Amino acid sequence: MKNSRIILKKILSNKESIRILNDTANGLDTAVLIFDINGNMLADIGESGSGSEAVSFPVNIKGEQAGYVEGSEKAAVIVSILTYMLAAEYDKRDLIDEVSSRYKEINLFYDFTEKILGCDSLKDIALLTLSLVKNFIKADTVSIMLKNDETNWIDVISAYDYDEKTVKNSIVPFNGESIAEFVMLSGNAEIINDISLDGWTAPGGGKTGSMMCAPLKIKDKVIGALNIATEDHTEFTSSDLKLFTTLSHNVGIFVENVKLYKDLKEIFISTVYTLAETIEMRDNYTGNHTKRVMEYSYAIGEALEMKKDAIEALRLSAILHDIGKIGVRDDVLLKPGKLTDEEFALMKKHPVFGEEILKKIKGLEHIIPGVKHHHERHDGRGYPDGLKEDEIELNAKIISVADTFDAMTSDRPYRKGLDPKIAIDELIRCSGTQFDGKIVDAFVKAFPHIDMSKL
Ligand SMILES: [Fe+2]
Repeated sequence: MKNSRIILKKILSNKESIRILNDTANGLDTAVLIFDINGNMLADIGESGSGSEAVSFPVNIKGEQAGYVEGSEKAAVIVSILTYMLAAEYDKRDLIDEVSSRYKEINLFYDFTEKILGCDSLKDIALLTLSLVKNFIKADTVSIMLKNDETNWIDVISAYDYDEKTVKNSIVPFNGESIAEFVMLSGNAEIINDISLDGWTAPGGGKTGSMMCAPLKIKDKVIGALNIATEDHTEFTSSDLKLFTTLSHNVGIFVENVKLYKDLKEIFISTVYTLAETIEMRDNYTGNHTKRVMEYSYAIGEALEMKKDAIEALRLSAILHDIGKIGVRDDVLLKPGKLTDEEFALMKKHPVFGEEILKKIKGLEHIIPGVKHHHERHDGRGYPDGLKEDEIELNAKIISVADTFDAMTSDRPYRKGLDPKIAIDELIRCSGTQFDGKIVDAFVKAFPHIDMSKL
């Protein structure tokens, strides 16, 4: 907080200032006493020549009295110089404030831009915004709100400071009652320094004292709002709002990117899924096999607490595990009876055919082991490479269990599918020979949570 009295004291503690004032006073042949507003003498300058009567002059800056000067009439010149020195000091401080706030701003955005590139979810963006923003502006909660124009509801992703990992998702109706909705409608950022007094409600409820809300915009379209809130009453300033609004522009761009990325990923997965289904349609007896293997694999991955990225790769491997069957002739693939040795040898090549297809697709290299080795066995008696135990990649082990379970429980023209309980007993019986026991255990654990009626 600026204080003109402190600034006056600071100027008079500077040797160069005193020298200028002294030289001026001596040139004017007068003596001057300089006091602060409380009557404390800060400087005694010049030497009195004439004995004229002392006059008191106030020293003001920007409407505030900093102190006063006593001396002859000539001391008015000293007052002018002091006022000039005060104004210069003020400007210097303004400049320092401006530079320091610009520096903070640049630092914030540098950090933000660097870290936000690693965010692939709105949850990550909310947590990152909270962790960065609280270094500059007081904030207990950051929330990202996205309006769904079709449903007229708002998705709210809130990150809370009392535990940086706490993120809550909720959906609220768009009814114009919260300050964030008002901001979405007006397109202008707002400060509410006391929610209860201003008659607004906080988005998502909870204990909220003060808030800042800024619209999230893509070009000129408002897609939602970025909000920060404090639990107690906080006086946000216009410079806080300026910083926050600039931040919201960046968040808006990345929120849109996450949405586009998610859409693109979904399109990619559904394209891949359609491709797998098209292949599956050649074999009338295995309807929905791909979907079921994918769901069982996913359930095993969850039971094994695999990370999000790993589960994503597992899903793709499971969808595409039999894509190599495209290279198996119809008369072999669709043969109802027992295959000859030559036919079986061709059938056993489908994992390698799968590898060859996927090798040609950029970005799918990581799912090849899951596809190529889904017919390997824990005891090394599988194909195509006769790998055993941990030579077999995790996804391949999981798909092997999921694939076999589905084969046992699906109806065929020549036999009815096994009851799931009997099929699970069979998996357990083959633990340690055909299957890795850990994967079978995970499937047994996950199975009660699978909704078979939807598969
Ligand atoms: Fe297969």
